[in-house]
Amino acid sequence: MIKFKERIAQMVEEQIKEITQISLLELMEYIEVPKNLANGDYAFPCFRLAKVLKKSPAQIAQDLANTMKMDEEVIEKIEVAGGYINFFIKKEILTKEVIQEFVQGKENYGKSELGKGKKIVIDYSAPNIAKPFHIGHLRSTVIGGALYRIYQYLGYQITGVNHLGDYGTQFGKLIEGYLRWGEEYNLDQDPIGELTKIYIRINELCKQDENVLQACRDNFKKLEDGDETCIALWERFRALSLQEFQKVYDVLGSKFDSWNGEAFYSDKMPEVITLLEKSGRLIESQGAKIIDLETEGINTPCIIQKSNGSSTYATRDLAAILYRARTYDFDKALYVTSYEQVLHFKQVFAVAKLLGIDEKYTKGLEHVSFGMVLLPTGKMSTREGTSIRLEELLQEAVNRAKIIIEQKNPNLENKEEVAKKVGVGAVIFNDLSNSRIKDEIFDWDQILNFQGETGPYIQYTYVRTKSILEKVEPLPEGIEIDVTLLEDEHSQMLLKIIYGFQDTLIQVTEKNEPSILSRYLLDLAKAFSSFYQENRIVGEKQNLQEARAYLTNLVGQVLKIGAELLGMEMPEKM
Ligand code: ARG
Repeated sequence: MIKFKERIAQMVEEQIKEITQISLLELMEYIEVPKNLANGDYAFPCFRLAKVLKKSPAQIAQDLANTMKMDEEVIEKIEVAGGYINFFIKKEILTKEVIQEFVQGKENYGKSELGKGKKIVIDYSAPNIAKPFHIGHLRSTVIGGALYRIYQYLGYQITGVNHLGDYGTQFGKLIEGYLRWGEEYNLDQDPIGELTKIYIRINELCKQDENVLQACRDNFKKLEDGDETCIALWERFRALSLQEFQKVYDVLGSKFDSWNGEAFYSDKMPEVITLLEKSGRLIESQGAKIIDLETEGINTPCIIQKSNGSSTYATRDLAAILYRARTYDFDKALYVTSYEQVLHFKQVFAVAKLLGIDEKYTKGLEHVSFGMVLLPTGKMSTREGTSIRLEELLQEAVNRAKIIIEQKNPNLENKEEVAKKVGVGAVIFNDLSNSRIKDEIFDWDQILNFQGETGPYIQYTYVRTKSILEKVEPLPEGIEIDVTLLEDEHSQMLLKIIYGFQDTLIQVTEKNEPSILSRYLLDLAKAFSSFYQENRIVGEKQNLQEARAYLTNLVGQVLKIGAELLGMEMPEKM
């Protein structure tokens, strides 16, 4: 593929290399893609050169443009606008490039080996056993899943870990509750519902009676020490919960390479303590072992071992870092959780530096945090005020999608199947449509609006490309279209967006931000609407119809590849 950005950066570099030492890579980073085609396909801003060259950006742009040696193979013309030099790519070259890439890539358009040899571990979803799978876990599952697929598409070797919350004092509590009142609850019918009830009830009792709380803590200690009764109960709770979680994963199509949860690290704790002791930083405080992180600029110390000898959430994460470094030899280890855990990961990443592992690993640790999901009030059932049942939420999305589909297309076949794709796709896209750190408001009407910035809008646009293509004769395999017929601004806009697909995926991995792909798909869908409004397809002269149909097909393919990378499924009709 011709790298237009690089070619432009080379033109600029040629001009300034005598005067400054700015690298080609850096110059490439300066280059912008103007929103408006009137400003060219690429723009080079001269603002950052102003300091070095001691001239105004506008003057620099003018001077550079005057003497610029044009890369005539790809550049049609350049123009100066204020502090920018605007570059216009030869239309024919852009069109040919995109088509050629597509002919080669087909349903794998944009795929790459860029990440070959690089290993990524992504820790996502991670619900807590015996507690409801809540909407925050949904967000983690969706964001993590999208990143997983995108890294993989770019050739990285990726391992998805579901670091289940299957350990900790809450299990001591559940065990205590179950031992006291087990027969009163029917775990087989509604395991998580029933376990939650037990959990709430024992918590109440703990508040009233310090001795009960102590018994719960002791139970967890017993569990860590291998007590048979405790282990058997823990195993049962875990298995029942996993069955429930699996229902959600089935709907979302989520898969994990490892299900090693917190409990998996129970026997790997002593090593963490030994290593931290060696670092000389582990200190005793009221019977517990802690690490003071004041020097690292973190005010809250990290508790490594509780006074009764049990491990903590942080210790288990430290053991997991050791394990993952050894087992997966990762270049990056990502943790997808809500921003509520910012402090936790700051502490853990700081303490990880004291474990004596290679810097490569501690540098690769990254918290991919996201904002809260603000729940709507009203019909959607809320439990304990904050958590809702995800299965119910997904089912409601499907039901609502079905109603809309009934109205829009009463004769559609497979309504059930389409409603599932649209409803679930709407929820997934909503989780990914804004920058992840933003809080998100869950509003049914917005999420399912076929004309809004939504998953259904992307699906709807895809379906439109399909129905247009049905109206023209099928394009023969290997057809060569007349590329000069795609020089109007709408076609060029589409081609330019399609050209930028792989670059978009790369940006997603650089920032661990799937919304960059969601926004891209919205831009593509919108550009297609304008294209279709201005350009007739069916009924045009044969070669023009062919060229436009060809482009329509490309748009549909890219929408599909992109949406599937996000985790959505595409209906062929809706
Ligand atoms: N189970 C945790 C929670 O629900 C999330 C775990 C995230 N991963 C990790 N390695 N700490 O809050």
